[in-house]
Amino acid sequence: MAKRIGILTGGGDCPGLNAVLRAAGKTLLGRGLEVVGFEDGFLGVMEKRFRVLRNSDLSGILSTGGTILGTSNRDNPFAWKPRTPEFKDAANTDCSDQVVALARELQLEGLIVIGGDGSLSIADRLVREKNIRCIGVPKTIDNDLSATDVTFGFDTAVAIATICIDRLHSTAMSHHRVMVVEVMGRYAGWIALFAGVAGGGDVILLPELPYRMEVVNQTLLERSTTGKRFSLVVVAEGAKAADGDLVVNKVVKDSPDPLRLGGIGQMLVNQIEDATGLEARVSVLGHLQRGGSPTAHDRLLATEFGARAARLAMEGGWDQMVAFRGGQYASVPLSDAVRQLKRVPLDHSLITAARSVGTSFGDA
Ligand code: F6P
Repeated sequence: MAKRIGILTGGGDCPGLNAVLRAAGKTLLGRGLEVVGFEDGFLGVMEKRFRVLRNSDLSGILSTGGTILGTSNRDNPFAWKPRTPEFKDAANTDCSDQVVALARELQLEGLIVIGGDGSLSIADRLVREKNIRCIGVPKTIDNDLSATDVTFGFDTAVAIATICIDRLHSTAMSHHRVMVVEVMGRYAGWIALFAGVAGGGDVILLPELPYRMEVVNQTLLERSTTGKRFSLVVVAEGAKAADGDLVVNKVVKDSPDPLRLGGIGQMLVNQIEDATGLEARVSVLGHLQRGGSPTAHDRLLATEFGARAARLAMEGGWDQMVAFRGGQYASVPLSDAVRQLKRVPLDHSLITAARSVGTSFGDA
């Protein structure tokens, strides 16, 4: 029987997932291995929903958004309950032995997990506690995984956010308004920093640099009194005031990531209008940043990552995550991948460059 490798996409979707599936799948099939794709991430593993992938499943998907396998971001085998109505109020329990049983039943050599910190943490536990061989592929628009310099999806999110900021510029100019643009990124400000600088944001607010509202207001007022009758404020969803808290849209019970961030943009608009008398509006870019076709850069990164993950699986390089570090492709122990979130360092050269062209980070 041909060797069999499982593959799944977990967590929030991200441009480039299909490009990774295509590259990993075609590489494995080309060498005579069988590929079993689990549907909807770890939910499909728990519910035994999977299909054998053929070359035809993997054709024509390089440039497409989403994931042909589907995904889910709250199904952790180590703390899980079925998604049927009778379990609605039940507590989560450790069901990870079901993964072991299924891997045995399907005679899987191992599993390629394409995911962010949540899915890669599960993969790491499966390796350490259940002896299931895994290979990780780092995915997230947030770019917040510390063991790789870059994740696929980030470039696309930045490109989309930048296009949106450009478009908001012209309406801000026409109406002489302050436009506040809220971008994603969870507890890291990578998208806000990169898209904010690329889009020429006048104020950029990052989770890593708590802001002072009086500084933000002062910057906007100074611009309006010196002939700049509009301003663009780019705010990360995870930014917070030096004397304030994270702005949380909803606390989700039983979720590995219970804080659903969001709402800081509208809060800023209210505070700016009240304190300065300037007219302001908010645009929350939300899931537009992660839907749709990946950029060329993300297609290339995803293709390299996918092909490398497949090669690691064939060569027995299990329990590693593929990565890009210091200008080179590499693989790192899966356990390193999830140790720490990668946040924007305060001495990042882009912060320095932005400050030198007059951008305010609301901090001084
Ligand atoms: O991690 C990716 C991301 O898009 C974050 O930037 C955002 O906070 C979160 O996922 C939103 O996830 P969802 O709406 O899928 O719960």
